[in-house]
Formats: sequence, C-alpha cells, structure tokens
Amino acid sequence: MINKVKKAVFPAAGLGTRFLPATKASPKEMLPIVDKPLIQYAVEEAERCNIKEFVMITGKSKRAIEDHFDYAWELEENLKSKGKEAMLEEIRRLAQHQFAYIRQGAPLGLGHAILCARPFVKEEPFAVILSDDIIDPEDKLLEEMLHIYNKYEATVLALERVPKDEIHRYGIIAGTEIKKNIFEISDMVEKPKASAAPSDIAIIGRYILTPDIFDFLAKTPPGKGGEIQLTDALKALLKKKPVYGYLFEGKRYDAGDKFGYLKATVEFALRNNEVKDQFRDYLLSTLSSIMSNKEH
Ligand code: G1P
Repeated sequence: MINKVKKAVFPAAGLGTRFLPATKASPKEMLPIVDKPLIQYAVEEAERCNIKEFVMITGKSKRAIEDHFDYAWELEENLKSKGKEAMLEEIRRLAQHQFAYIRQGAPLGLGHAILCARPFVKEEPFAVILSDDIIDPEDKLLEEMLHIYNKYEATVLALERVPKDEIHRYGIIAGTEIKKNIFEISDMVEKPKASAAPSDIAIIGRYILTPDIFDFLAKTPPGKGGEIQLTDALKALLKKKPVYGYLFEGKRYDAGDKFGYLKATVEFALRNNEVKDQFRDYLLSTLSSIMSNKEH
C-alpha cells in the first residue's frame, strides 16, 4: 500500500489523575502493560503502518517519554556485552525514527493538543493515536483507516459500538453506513448523556486527519469540560467536507481506566512467551480458590 500518511501525533499531556499516585512524577503513557509502556504499543501500531515520523504532545513530568525513545548508549553496551541481541535490536529500532516533542503549555483539551502539532505536521494528512486505547496488535484498525483515507482523501475516524452506560465517556456520532463498516458521518457530540446521544457509536482513539482541521481547531471555543474539543472542530469540518468513520469490531482495551488496564495486563501476559505458562497456571489456581471460597 502506498502510504499517504507519514506522520502520527500522540497527545500525551494529560495529568493521568485516574492512576495517581503512580502518575504523580512519571507519565501515564509510561505505565507498562507487562513489559512495554502504553506509548510504545501506540508507536509500534503506527510503525506497522509504515509511519516513521512521530510527534509527541507532552506536558509537565513527561521527560521519561523522551528518554524512552532515545538512544541509550550505556544500556546498549551492556546488552551487547551480555549477548542480548534481540532486546538491543528492539531498543535501537525505536530510537532510529524521527521524534518531535512539543509541550502543551496548559491542559486546554485534546483539540488544543492537536493544534500544537501544526508546525510539525504542516500541510500533510496525519494520524492521531491516543495511547490510552490499546488496539490488539493482531487487529488492523489503523491499516483499514489508511485504506479508507487512500480512497476518499478525507478525514477518517475510528468507531466502536459501546454499551449505553459508557456513552457519556465518548464522542458519539450520527451517520449512514455507506459500505460494510464504513460510515459517512452527519453529526457528532462530545460525551452526551445516553438519553441525548444520536446513536451508540463512539469515536475511539484513532483518527486520520487532514491539515484543514487546524483552521477549525483554531476557531473552536472551549466546549465540554471547558476544554477545546477535537469533536467540536470535526463537527464544524463536516459541514464543509465529508467525514468518514470505520466501525471497528476487533479488540480494544481502555487502558485509561483501571479495570481496562488490568484486563489488558492479564491478556497480554497470557501471550507473553516468558511468563504465559506460569501465569496461566497461577490464574487457574487463583480462580479455583475464588470458586471454592464462594461455595463455602
Ligand atoms: C477523547 C475524545 C472523545 C473520544 C475519546 C476516545 O476523550 O474527546 O471524543 O471518544 O477520546 O478515547 P478522552 O478520553 O480524552 O476524554
């Protein structure tokens, strides 16, 4: 596939209050799922789609992200001397890409974070990846979205049906399914009450945006929660240009939430070659003791 999208933007300036105190001095994006930080899963997803330029929107206490994707001479020498070639290769591979870091001076919202990327993105289409949403590496969400972008050359959002009691946590769309799982979007609203939502189809943390979104973001006033919302700018854009959505039916973990984070940890541990057998046995024995406690 010829890739017209070469850059990915990773908003990473959030305070991570749901994971305090772990996130007091270190970024939420560096919380590990087994042995890899959330932000690395996100970067690797873009890498798999041949995207090699990464723009991180960071804020206070986020320097560890920069160090994580940098060369680490001492560590590399150490791995080399111990013959740990596979790990050495992984660490070097990531550092070879181009990373730009932009500081979002104040927590003014997702829309404002994206606007901060403008000087680096310039006049190109780009992907936005929210690292809280982990997409199963076996599923091809971003790749499908890039196919849709290649066809329509227009904005593409990732969508997922959500249960009624979760509607208030997402941007929710109205739209028409024009092909299997491809929607033309006619309206959207940021975090509505379930009773006022136009559907049960939520926007999840993957977007392919066109550079014209920046003008809309620059004009977007603060919305829900007093923040500049990407959803509001997209709603203004769709009055002028078509906006598409791809309904994802694969596996997503909301690692921005404690329960979602734990589910991702358990499932990724069950696939990790180093620990999977031991971990499965442990889970089974824990489960059987939970069950026998219940019976007594
Ligand atoms: C953001 C967006 C929201 C979207 C969600 C997906 O919200 O504002 O429209 O549905 O990401 O994860 P946040 O989770 O940052 O509050």
